[in-house]
Amino acid sequence: MTAEKLRADFIITGASQLVTCAENIGEGVLGVISNGALAALGDDIVWVGPESELRRHVQPAPGLVEVDADGGAVLPGFIDAHTHLVFAGDRSDDFAKRVSGEPYETKGIMTTVEATRGATDAELELFARQRLDRFLSFGVTTLEAKSGYGLTLDQELRLLKIAQRLDHPVEVVRTFLGAHVVPPEYAGAHDEYVRLVEHGMIPALENLAEFCDVWCEDGAFTRDECRTILRAARAQGLGIKVHAEQLAHTGGASLAAEFAAVSADHLEHATEDDADALAGSRTVAVLLPGATLVTGAQPAPARMLKERGVRVALSTDFNPGTSYSENLPLALTLGCLLLKMTIEEGVLGITRNAAAAISRERVLGSLAPGKRNDAVVVHAPHYAELAYHYGVSPVRTVVARSRIAFDLSKAGTSSAGAQNAQSGRQ
Ligand code: NIG
Ligand code: FE
Repeated sequence: MTAEKLRADFIITGASQLVTCAENIGEGVLGVISNGALAALGDDIVWVGPESELRRHVQPAPGLVEVDADGGAVLPGFIDAHTHLVFAGDRSDDFAKRVSGEPYETKGIMTTVEATRGATDAELELFARQRLDRFLSFGVTTLEAKSGYGLTLDQELRLLKIAQRLDHPVEVVRTFLGAHVVPPEYAGAHDEYVRLVEHGMIPALENLAEFCDVWCEDGAFTRDECRTILRAARAQGLGIKVHAEQLAHTGGASLAAEFAAVSADHLEHATEDDADALAGSRTVAVLLPGATLVTGAQPAPARMLKERGVRVALSTDFNPGTSYSENLPLALTLGCLLLKMTIEEGVLGITRNAAAAISRERVLGSLAPGKRNDAVVVHAPHYAELAYHYGVSPVRTVVARSRIAFDLSKAGTSSAGAQNAQSGRQ
């Protein structure tokens, strides 16, 4: 063959499995290439295939960086499609109430709103950066971050601006959630707050948010109020997301389908009709088993959603009230154990399907030529480690846009080598 070789300035070698999560590449639903390698030029992947064929297809460019996976599995950078990243304050007392059996109530959110309003920009930025560092250590390279703890025009814009200027290897995709709950200033005047979101906040967003989310729930917003807000969002060109059917069935899922929403999230109380509507609108179901666990809710019907043709993503729902954890692989474990998803479905749920849930499937969520070179090296040879070794980070190295953004061997863990030697199967 005389085909010209591809130039690459970044390669990953030594992988037991390259778990591409791509369609039409490799074996099985996850597109696994045994002893696979990856090559990239600039930020983007140019080639994936068996390592034995790497040198035949790829020509090293000056300054080549090589990551040796050392027998670990390699996956696409993980994507957390639902977080409430920017806030201040502590709700551990609320958590203690959950533990003692008191039901979750939306009014707890106001504790966080008060703390957030009272925090300086510098404090909020610092907290958010520390959280992004933790997300990165769990393999996350892209996350969606919602506003929603400001609930005034200025405070909501402030939270989105802070999310915009977080200069971090983890890419932050911003969502406006002014319709999280009605703040107490508007108690008894819901309509006025809905009008403020519709006419005051949404038109002021400019490029600060890509998506608009609403919480359709008793104690938050009715279906009609959500519809009013989503119409304004759609007119503004925002993508649509809905917190739907979390604590009870209130019609959020069919509303999401009506707006051809990018995602409908939570869905603990979704019905078969809801699933059919979501499948019809190609809306991704983002399931949040951490929040299910903390609120003591019934698990979302993942199997039913999948059987009726809905794509399913898994996310942390990182927030101070119902899911205070940056551990996305733990959401995968919980997806398997609580929602009865297979490990493969769970892996797709934090990669390719999560990319679809933030309209990024064209560039993120799989390891294939043309995609961004965001990758995770796992400390064991099989991807099952992600679900199996729960509660810890299964990650050894994280690559974000062809840069080594996290490297456990440089994170000062002297026992890292011993852990690598012990963990996983052959
Ligand atoms: O996703 N459902 C809406 N919002 C959060 C809870 C926010 C909070 O309690 O602070 C959630 O579970
Ligand atoms: Fe949420």
